[in-house]
Amino acid sequence: MSNKIVVVHAGPRKGWNTDTVISNAAKGAEDAGAEIIRFDLFRLEKYTGCISCFGCKKEQSRGHCICRDGLTPVLDAIREADGLIIGSPNYLGELTASFRALYERLIFQNLTYNMETPCCNERMIPVLLIMTSNASDTGYLHLLNNYQQTLSRFVGPTEVFVSGNTLQLKDYSKTDWQWSMFDPEAKQKRHDTVFPEECRKAYELGKKLFG
Ligand SMILES: Cc1cc2nc3c(=O)[nH]c(=O)nc-3n(C[C@H](O)[C@H](O)[C@H](O)COP(=O)(O)O)c2cc1C
Repeated sequence: MSNKIVVVHAGPRKGWNTDTVISNAAKGAEDAGAEIIRFDLFRLEKYTGCISCFGCKKEQSRGHCICRDGLTPVLDAIREADGLIIGSPNYLGELTASFRALYERLIFQNLTYNMETPCCNERMIPVLLIMTSNASDTGYLHLLNNYQQTLSRFVGPTEVFVSGNTLQLKDYSKTDWQWSMFDPEAKQKRHDTVFPEECRKAYELGKKLFG
């Protein structure tokens, strides 16, 4: 039977950087025989982050977020999955608010507050966390290190992949004012040369981790 891999896009822009990198990772997994179940967090029904109801800490719902909203099918699919690919752009030095909402509920349901068994997830799965950013690939190592550690502890062994210095606009000359922080030519050049290579690497990672 083929591996079921949940793919989550935690950015709003279809066909842009984050979507493209995660789609490549997903294609790698698919070409290695996996079945892909994809969610776009910006296109779900309304949802929130953790509401601190502690329903997941009750014996009968242990390890299950009991809050019912747009994220419920995503959490259910991850629970049944053999792997998780999740990608977010960097927003103001963090991953998106949508990513955080899912992250809070995914992690907190598996966290017990019990000293002997702090994690009640009995089905750990490999995770690939992808971030894209204006900053360089190494601009957010500390942030990603934290996510890697927590995901590894409560969801499963996590690898991180970054595509930095991304192209944010199709044409930087068509803005109302100068985005003078950026060198449009250098951005475009990187997009044409380095970005395809990153997509290829994401494809290979998807193939290796989830096939
Ligand atoms: C609201 C907002 C905040 C951003 N903040 C940052 C930031 O703090 N650091 C950074 O490196 N890039 C930042 N960016 C740039 C995006 O992370 C980057 O362009 C990313 O590749 C966009 O992904 P997308 O093309 O999939 O939308 C920000 C973009 C937006 C829209």
